This record gives sequence, C-alpha cells and structure tokens, in this order.
Amino acid sequence: MKELIKQAADIITKSGLTIALTGAGISVESGIPDFRSPGGLWSIYDPSEYATISAFISTPEKVWEMAREMTKLIDAARPNSAHKGMADLEKMGYLHHIITQNVDNLHQEAGSSNVIEYHGNISTLTCLKCGQRFKRAELHEEFPPRCICSSRMILKPDVIFFGEAIPEDAMNRSFQLASHAEALMVVGTSAVVSPANTIPSIAKTNGAKVIEINKDRTHLTGTITDVFLNGDAGMIMTEILAEIRKIVG
Ligand code: APR
Repeated sequence: MKELIKQAADIITKSGLTIALTGAGISVESGIPDFRSPGGLWSIYDPSEYATISAFISTPEKVWEMAREMTKLIDAARPNSAHKGMADLEKMGYLHHIITQNVDNLHQEAGSSNVIEYHGNISTLTCLKCGQRFKRAELHEEFPPRCICSSRMILKPDVIFFGEAIPEDAMNRSFQLASHAEALMVVGTSAVVSPANTIPSIAKTNGAKVIEINKDRTHLTGTITDVFLNGDAGMIMTEILAEIRKIVG
C-alpha cells in the first residue's frame, strides 16, 4: 500500500487540474451508512418505494420515514478525516473541485468550497405547490414538515430522487471539468448510478490518471482505475496528505 500511496501523491502533486468524485462511502466513518454495502440503506428501504419522485408524490409520509432516519444520522454526523483531508488538499492547491453524490453537506462542513452537488442537499426543503424554500434546521413544529402556504403541502427535501433530472449546471460543469482533468480521485462510490458514473470514463478518455479509494473493488477497478487504494477513505486520505507533505515540504 505504501508504494501505491506514493504513486497517488506523485500523480496529485504533478497534476495541473485535479477533481474528485465522492459517494456515500466517504461518509460511512461519520456514521452515515452507505446504500449498497451489506446492511446499507437499500437493504432496509426499497429504493423503488422510498427514493423515487413518484413515490414522494404518491406517498410523501412514507418517504419522509426514511428521510427522517437519514436526517437524524446526518445531523449527528461530523466530517471525518477523508472530508478534512480533501479540504486540506483544496487549501494546498492540489484539489480543485469535488463532485459529490452525497446530500449530507459534510464536504462543505469540512471546509471544501468548490463542491458540485449532483444529488442536491438535504439541508433545505421546497414546497412543490408554491415553490417556497425552507432551511430544514429552522422547521421543528410538525412531522412531516408542511408548507405555510394555503396548500399545507408536505415539503420535499431538496435532494434528487430517482426519476428527477440532475441539476443542469452541476452536470455541465462536472463534464467540463472531467474532460480537462489531469487527475481524478474516486472516493467511496460503487459508481453504478448514472450520470455521475460516467465521470471516471470521461476523465480517463481525456488522459486523466484515476485514483480510486474504496474499501471494496468496483467495476472501475482494473479497468479505468490507475491506482487502487483499498481500504477506509479516512485512513487512506490521511496517508496521502502525509506523503504529499513529505514531497512538497
Ligand atoms: N471507505 C471507502 N469506501 C467505502 C467505505 C469506507 N469507509 N465504506 C463504504 N465504502 C464503499 C463501498 O464499498 C461502496 O463501493 O463506498 C461505496 C458506496 O457505494 P453506494 O452505497 O452504492 O453509494 P454511492 O456510490 O454513493 O451511490 C450513488 O446511488 O442510491 C443512489 O442517490 C444515491 O447518491 C447515491 C447514489
């Protein structure tokens, strides 16, 4: 692993444009389960009943059952050493943008400023009737939270459900970055959900070196990945930072 950490650090310090694609695995060490590992959220909640826009429209109370469990975990979560390491890399000028599939805001809380949110953010809610947006932290009265407009409609978390489009600016910006990146770090994602999972192949096709950090192998490993760092993101990111500090002094 030491040699692989050195290879990753060398790629990052030599890259003129480094981006990252992160998934739920980066937040597992913060106490938020991922989706597809054994015991993950999709083994408890069937995504077709809890994570599609049609499920939210037809049974919002049911969808909020899962959303409430997620928000409890997210509100108790703090950035871990993987989030913090990536924020440090940004400050050192070695990581330029993070494209995240996560909705937990932990990259921003760790201090990262260039974060593109592919699947939205669960800290705000919107009324599908009148369009008003609310900060979830400011809503306590009732569950599920309802709009103050005459519809009294159940508010929708500002996350992208299956069946909803990825925010256009997020998609366009990420494809543009991926096609110019010299290095891509893929951290804690099974890379099975489109269109986020096209980012590694776009970057690779355009000459980027791909560093994958995951506790398991994925379909990227051994095909698109140049350096596979197998283990927990927190420990690995800490080792990459230490190696980079050795190189740059
Ligand atoms: N360190 C590194 N990798 C980890 C860790 C960890 N501590 N814990 C889990 N992983 C890995 C898992 O092995 C898996 O490969 O992170 C990956 C998480 O994959 P998923 O659970 O599929 O999560 P993600 O890839 O983010 O899913 C993408 O699917 O359901 C939708 O909208 C949801 O944004 C999500 C999207």
